[in-house]
Amino acid sequence: MSDKPTMRIKANGSIRVTGEVDFVDAEGKVIETKSDFSLCRCGHSKDKPYCDGSHRDAGFEAPGN
Ligand code: FES
Repeated sequence: MSDKPTMRIKANGSIRVTGEVDFVDAEGKVIETKSDFSLCRCGHSKDKPYCDGSHRDAGFEAPGN
């Protein structure tokens, strides 16, 4: 199994990040290291940048799906 993180775009939903990644600020300083989480791409989450499941209630439909 690879240590390389992956991002999987879910149909009409979030972006699932698997593996460990650094969150870096504008100056390049690591502000947080996190693994295995989902990012919001619908704009409705109350916990951005993370998905909180709101895409389901919002009826989010991603382009191309
Ligand atoms: S993609 Fe899940 S709340 Fe936005």
